[in-house]
Amino acid sequence: MKLMVVGGGGREHAIIRKLRENPEVKTLYALPGNAGIAQDAEIVPIPATDLDRIVHFAEEKKIDFAVIAPDDPLAMGLVDRLHEKGIACFGPDQKAAEIESSKIFAKNLMKKYGIPTAAFEVFEDLEAARAYVQTARVPLVVKADGLALGKGVLICATREEALEALEAMMVEKRFGKSGTRVVIEEFLEGPEVSVLSFTDGETIVPMVSSMDHKRALDGDQGLNTGGMGTVAPNPYYTREIAERTMREILLPTVQAMKAEGRPFKGCLYFGLMLTKDGPKVIEYNCRFGDPETQVVLPLLKTDLLTIMRAVEDGRLKEIPVEFRDGADCCVILASGGYPEHYEKGKVIDLGRAEETAQVFHSGTALDSQGHLVTAGGRVLGVTFVSDTLKHAIEGAYRAADQIQFEGRHLRRDIGARALKALEE
Ligand code: AMP
Ligand code: GLY
Repeated sequence: MKLMVVGGGGREHAIIRKLRENPEVKTLYALPGNAGIAQDAEIVPIPATDLDRIVHFAEEKKIDFAVIAPDDPLAMGLVDRLHEKGIACFGPDQKAAEIESSKIFAKNLMKKYGIPTAAFEVFEDLEAARAYVQTARVPLVVKADGLALGKGVLICATREEALEALEAMMVEKRFGKSGTRVVIEEFLEGPEVSVLSFTDGETIVPMVSSMDHKRALDGDQGLNTGGMGTVAPNPYYTREIAERTMREILLPTVQAMKAEGRPFKGCLYFGLMLTKDGPKVIEYNCRFGDPETQVVLPLLKTDLLTIMRAVEDGRLKEIPVEFRDGADCCVILASGGYPEHYEKGKVIDLGRAEETAQVFHSGTALDSQGHLVTAGGRVLGVTFVSDTLKHAIEGAYRAADQIQFEGRHLRRDIGARALKALEE
């Protein structure tokens, strides 16, 4: 079979490694991939958002199955375009992808179908938004509608901060067009859990739960990033909570999307907050998370391509999806200064990291002399699988410390909170 994976980060690297385990996969292209992915797939320098060229490439190469990993091409309708050409895909179509690309669509869906989420109001008018803030309880969360590269969410401890956030989004347009409409919502408290799931629009099968670490610095300090590390499973997500979440959130979401004429096929990601009133949805993503995928897929026992094809064909209920026992941890190595200003082009020495751990490449490239160099904010993800979380964390750090490049930044406390929760 000829496969194509669209995207070029650590998440895509983890997907590709897993797909490769199927002996039926003879050719695997990554668009655009990166220097690490090049060891596991043929990389093709077409950006993930260049839909015309991607569709043309898929037709020309007679691709049998395409996996679309990032949010942008999904929101732009790449799956619809490939389906028009008769190419089978893993990923939601444009209408279903709106569950991530429009926060307002997602919030209204939850309201209409009674899916637990933070109370919210939507505003297009600045004065109305300001008036609301004057009377609302703080802290408040102000969110720009639309995709704002994960940066369009501001947690405001005071009314003044909330007014400044509105100014930044609606007047200064600091998040571009996505700030034309804003959502102001109640601040929720509790441990966060990421639950990725496979769904074919009818059946939904959750994957092992995970915990992301979004802030740049230890102790959850510093700016929000794309994610500095993950562990799986998430100890807060007990069997009891998982069952309740299935009843109150997972199944109702899949049924709601179907009822709206937008059946969701692909990976539906639930960002949950476990509040004292039960699990609530913080956000939906229409795709695998990064770096959640780097801990979830290494624990998957079932063949990934078999699951993905069952999702596309609407046969998910026929497939047993199994995860191994144990735990794993992924530590992200980032460029110094990320998520703000950072330099690229630093030579990377992987040491002996790959002898014990899985190293997934996020932002790497080869320079003109063929050296592996840094090429992004998040550079590498190091995943270690073990029987216990404690050993997984130790193994991931041991391997991560093998890897050197100038300015290397990593958090030292990935998994610490999870470990503490297990010990309590
Ligand atoms: P989002 O882009 O919606 O995932 O938001 C980014 C991060 O902001 C989340 O992972 C949460 O940590 C935080 N956040 C978003 N909405 C809320 C909320 N209503 N209450 C508390 N924290 C939130
Ligand atoms: N790790 C969070 C995300 O992929 O959106």
